[in-house]
Amino acid sequence: MPFGKVKKQYLAIAMLIFVLLFFFNSKPAFQCLSPEIQVSSYLPTIYAITPTYTRLAQKADLTRLSQTLMHVKNFHWIIVEDSEKKTDLVANFLKESGLNYTHLNVKTQASKHSSVLDINICLFKTYKINSTWYCASGVEQRNLALKWLRDHLKKLHDKRGVIYFMDDDNTYALKVFDEMRKINKVGTWPVGIVGGMRVEMPLVTDGKITGFNAVWKPFRPFPIDMAGFAINSTLLLEQPDAKFSRKVQSGYQESEILKYFTKKEDLEPLADNCTKVYVWHTRTQKPSIITPKKWQTPVFDSHIEV
Ligand code: UGA
Ligand code: MN
Repeated sequence: MPFGKVKKQYLAIAMLIFVLLFFFNSKPAFQCLSPEIQVSSYLPTIYAITPTYTRLAQKADLTRLSQTLMHVKNFHWIIVEDSEKKTDLVANFLKESGLNYTHLNVKTQASKHSSVLDINICLFKTYKINSTWYCASGVEQRNLALKWLRDHLKKLHDKRGVIYFMDDDNTYALKVFDEMRKINKVGTWPVGIVGGMRVEMPLVTDGKITGFNAVWKPFRPFPIDMAGFAINSTLLLEQPDAKFSRKVQSGYQESEILKYFTKKEDLEPLADNCTKVYVWHTRTQKPSIITPKKWQTPVFDSHIEV
């Protein structure tokens, strides 16, 4: 029988079979994954909180940090300027960074130390700007970020995530972000080059933290640097009062925030039972600049952002 004479009904059936075969052979656009696959592919959001302030090496430090962060998946950077207004430098820098970010600002309030007692609160860690004494940095900035994060999490259906306090001049290996996604409540790991040591770290026996090797103020409730722990973000809503405080000695900010979320013995050791260093407390040297006035032929560079 010539093809042209095939009945229309047969053609329609053949077409239908073809369409059905095609449909069942192709992968659906959405799939119900097995629970194992869902668990292994789930990446908690990392909410990193970074205070930052205007200085000559700020853009250099932020550039180095952001170029690490651009390799971290599911990452939200809450960057808080220590300033009365958001600066163009940081605003433009963030816009161009390609990162997922929230830009906030709050100026550190001058706290004048009028008595010996006040000075003692900040022992070893005072610095003076325009005859005003300051101690711990980043307190108001981190607290503003925590407030923003609480409001943000309240609006989210999925509140799971990790909170990490990052200085803008530390050095972070990508592995530290993989580690912190494993935490249940609060995880901790060693920090390189801090507290006068090659490495400050928790001591682990049979998978449990039994002590710390810290030598700088070893009696701190949590002798850990800010870079050495992260917190499950769901705990933030369970502890609405958790915040940093100006009323504590220098070096006690970490203990101040951690006391709301965990006990020393319940900290979860990460980075191979705290045997690996994935973060370093590096500090950028303050650059010394020769002012153009001292040059014989001054070159004006104030129009160039550095
Ligand atoms: C150590 C800790 O690693 C910090 O987490 C802690 O905030 C700090 O001590 C402190 O308690 O003072 P350190 O290198 O001494 O770090 O401090 P900085 O790196 O100078 O400052 C920590 C963060 O606060 C940085 O991200 C920095 O940009 C910011 N900062 C510093 C301000 O926002 N304003 C300032 O006036 C100074
Ligand atoms: Mn630093």
